[in-house]
Amino acid sequence: PHPVIIDCDPGHDDALALLLAAGDSRLRLLGVTTVAGNQTLDKTTRNAQRILALAGAGDVPVAAGCDRPLVGELAVADYIHGPSGLDGPDLDVPVTPVAEEHAVELTRRLVTESAEPVTLIALGPLTNVALLLRTHPEIRSRVRRIVFMGGSTERGNTTPYGEFNIVTDPEAADIVVRSGLPLTMVGLNVTHQVRATAGIIAEFQSLGSRTGRVCAELMTFFAGAYLRNFALGDPPVHDPVAVACVLDPALVQTVTAPLAIELAGTCTRGATVVDLHHRTGRADNAQIAVGIDVEAFWRTLMKAVSRYT
Ligand code: BDR
Ligand code: CA
Repeated sequence: PHPVIIDCDPGHDDALALLLAAGDSRLRLLGVTTVAGNQTLDKTTRNAQRILALAGAGDVPVAAGCDRPLVGELAVADYIHGPSGLDGPDLDVPVTPVAEEHAVELTRRLVTESAEPVTLIALGPLTNVALLLRTHPEIRSRVRRIVFMGGSTERGNTTPYGEFNIVTDPEAADIVVRSGLPLTMVGLNVTHQVRATAGIIAEFQSLGSRTGRVCAELMTFFAGAYLRNFALGDPPVHDPVAVACVLDPALVQTVTAPLAIELAGTCTRGATVVDLHHRTGRADNAQIAVGIDVEAFWRTLMKAVSRYT
């Protein structure tokens, strides 16, 4: 199995992404690190611990990372994920204590100890990943690639042209996209193709397990939040798409393009500027997800979740 570390801010869609990663035998989840984003760090950390406990993956180490962006103040997405960051289901499960190391330190150690290069999957603001690359440049050769959910080739969801993870910490995103490491951006242009319809929610429910029920309840809450905030029925399931892209590259189509982060725009700070038609003369620095086999994605996710009894 392909070794991965997930950095996340659970978060309803992060929770499904963790269940997918822990439940699919093609991946080996070495560790989970948390960052402030959808909610404050204490809450995203607690939520990651709870989801792993639910998945019977309490042995996967969890370490807390940065509690705010590199620059500026944290603005959480409680309007989408609720006051807990994971509103909806009852997630009262005994959890394994969090590691004493900082997320950056745990990642450095796991990457160094791994026999094979590790893929980093980032599902929240890129603060921890940027800090890792800046403080431990020696681990670069141990990182196979970085796959992140964030940005868009089109419009945003937090500002007209900015997606939440990138808008929350644009400087961190800038460090990551200029790192020179192999990079895959999974943005809203693709994640909005994957929607938790009533049929999908019913399918989770009919798995008949606690985990299936939790997924159904998470997506029911998420659906309400998307309807209230974006007048959008059937919410997009963002973060699991980044995991899917690693476990089966055939699920997600990508193109190579120059990618830059807008840091100084008067209205567009945090926008991902993707030169799909190569008009700028900039060098290619990222794979950009542009399409997904939606049916195959859901079969993969359902199969992973159905492994939890
Ligand atoms: C991203 O922002 C968060 O709210 C989600 O968890 C996802 O990572 C979507 O813009
Ligand atoms: Ca997230």
